[in-house]
Amino acid sequence: MSLHQLTAQYLQQLDPTHLTFPPPSTLIHPDAQSAIYNRMFNQSTAWPLPPVSYRIRVLKALIPQIEEGITDPDEDELNSDLLEEWTNLISLPKPSQIQQAQQLTFIKYTAPTSPPAPTAEPKTVITSESRGLIYAAGTTGFRTWEASLHLGTYLSTPTGAAHVNGKRVIELGAGTGFVSMFVAKYLQPQFVLATDREGALIGNMKECKGRNELGAEFNVGAWEWGTPLEYPGGDNTEIVEKEDLTFDVALGADLVRCFVPSSSSGSVANAEQLCRPTTPICCLSSLPLLRTFLITTMSKNSFSQLPYAIKTPSRPSWTPVQATTSRPNV
Ligand SMILES: C[S@@+](CC[C@H](N)C(=O)[O-])C[C@H]1O[C@@H](n2cnc3c(N)ncnc32)[C@H](O)[C@@H]1O
Repeated sequence: MSLHQLTAQYLQQLDPTHLTFPPPSTLIHPDAQSAIYNRMFNQSTAWPLPPVSYRIRVLKALIPQIEEGITDPDEDELNSDLLEEWTNLISLPKPSQIQQAQQLTFIKYTAPTSPPAPTAEPKTVITSESRGLIYAAGTTGFRTWEASLHLGTYLSTPTGAAHVNGKRVIELGAGTGFVSMFVAKYLQPQFVLATDREGALIGNMKECKGRNELGAEFNVGAWEWGTPLEYPGGDNTEIVEKEDLTFDVALGADLVRCFVPSSSSGSVANAEQLCRPTTPICCLSSLPLLRTFLITTMSKNSFSQLPYAIKTPSRPSWTPVQATTSRPNV
């Protein structure tokens, strides 16, 4: 089991009980422990570091695993940096549960590779999230939902990437902007416009644009379905001409009540109006639970189903995040 996968899961803040640790016989090796410290805990070499409470939980799970690998008490030992980190972290004042829930944190997602290619530069997307802020904020968009991870996984395949390569792409209800930023960063669209109705989410996406070193190929605009889509003013929008706000592809993930192709007010209907009149539409999801759609020029039939039926991620890094709370409808 590679440290690459563990690091990717950790930076994605997967629940510590779901982290895949290498076996104790590997963990006890000084080089392995040193790599773990530098990639996951060392403030000068690891970024973005997860919140303190998360790091404590991970060390609490990791240290016994390392200790299990001790076969020669004179030789084998726990890395002193990891030990010191543990001591430091548990001595810090604990934020209240409410503070923890509302804390925004940068999360780094690593794209799955098939087969694993640890030597290649990993494809990553950084988002700003607060997975506990769902109820307080009145929106479900402060975290990246499983549907987006599935859509990202699909788009990371050659078949998926072909839908957006060279295209003018809009995402509806983008939330953290994970899907849009992945498309803009790695799949060479003409441009991507990530939209959502929540101003705070728009602000987060704009901040993450810089964190992901994205330029004019990625734009963010506030848009509530059912209202006219306006030209997203501000920085770096020159690539989207005002009179040219039409799109080849519309993406949407986990838009709960909106997956109603026949509706005249849902997000699909809105997306349909935005696409060029000649654009045939198809939906990408036979999975009602995922409520993911992709509108593209690839199909001749309106809302026909593409053969997309990955129920659980088959690949390692974009693992679904465990929901900690039950959730309201949007
Ligand atoms: C469940 S979240 C999904 C976010 C993201 N697509 C994902 O999968 O992680 C639904 C998103 O749709 C947005 N939304 C809900 N109703 C909307 C509307 N009428 N117009 C625009 N955005 C809306 C919310 O603000 C939220 O960000």
